[in-house]
Amino acid sequence: MKKRVLSGIRATGKLHLGNYLGAVKGMLELQDSPEYETLYMVADVHTITTPYNVDELRKYRKEVVIDYLSCGLDPEKSILFLQADVNEHLELAFLFSSVATIARMQHLPTYKDKVKQYPKDNTMALLNYPVLMAADILIYKADLVPVGIDQEPHLEVAREIARKMNEKYKTDFPEPKRFETKGQYVPSLKGEGKMSKSVEGSYVNLTDSQDEVLKKIRSMPTSSKAGGEMSPDVKSLFDLAKLFLSNISDFEKKFKDGSLQFSQMKDELAAKISEELKPLQEKRKEIEKDQAHVDKVIKEGTEKARAIASETVLEVKQKMGLG
Ligand code: ADP
Ligand code: TRP
Repeated sequence: MKKRVLSGIRATGKLHLGNYLGAVKGMLELQDSPEYETLYMVADVHTITTPYNVDELRKYRKEVVIDYLSCGLDPEKSILFLQADVNEHLELAFLFSSVATIARMQHLPTYKDKVKQYPKDNTMALLNYPVLMAADILIYKADLVPVGIDQEPHLEVAREIARKMNEKYKTDFPEPKRFETKGQYVPSLKGEGKMSKSVEGSYVNLTDSQDEVLKKIRSMPTSSKAGGEMSPDVKSLFDLAKLFLSNISDFEKKFKDGSLQFSQMKDELAAKISEELKPLQEKRKEIEKDQAHVDKVIKEGTEKARAIASETVLEVKQKMGLG
């Protein structure tokens, strides 16, 4: 039997370069591997764990599927679906919550960050975020998860839950591992932290025009002058540029000898990013014209996902004494 791959992206906005390089590129690579059966979802239920707008969620859960298709995820090769359409994820998450302690969940850096960001919305759903993510992965008994490095603490929780369930109830969950990509950590355009949908001004969207990309890259802060130590913002620029420019060592040399013109480097970087985005944007235009096709892809993907997911839930309920 083929090993399985599962990944997802929350429906909090349009995809950006961080999502593309950290997650989608890995999804694409694995979809073409004959060793794996690949399942890719939109993590729309995870979206409700922090404050959100109902109309936006409704819009973005489909937009992310359109982004997936534009990037080259192929319904002939991968099962594409929306998490909320496969109820079994929620069912398994509740069953899993019986082996996950509150103390462990409260300790996660991702949880602490969100509580800091939304102190009034420290909800049960937020605390349960990693448990639901473990259910997303383990419901398909997936071995491999293409996600950025920021998701590693969540994968650790999924492995712990798999071990506990296997020990206590004799299930056969694998311990899922992260599938790494070169772009596992794409820096923010603001000079510190990672590129993220939740930080305004930190990202380049996959749908950004050439002008928008140029404007955003030109506005990246560069506080140190060429020649000295690299300031964190200059380092961010170089880290981003490394993912796109093959002549990055020339720019590094120029930085060292003091002759680097940031504007020239930024313009080259922006041009390279736009070049990479162009085919995705063209494909997006075609896909947007045929919404019925997108709906069909989602419907068919959901049916396939449910067939697998319902078997796992049945098995777990039986082993836990609930069936
Ligand atoms: P965001 O942080 O923008 O809300 P998500 O949390 O929805 O993005 O992440 C979706 C996927 O994209 C995850 O696999 C995550 O690891 C990856 N990802 C998000 N931001 C980055 C980044 N800056 N660099 C690399 N991967 C990222
Ligand atoms: N937590 C992931 C993120 O923020 C999204 C996600 C939810 C996910 N369920 C998943 C990723 C299962 C991989 C596998 O990016």
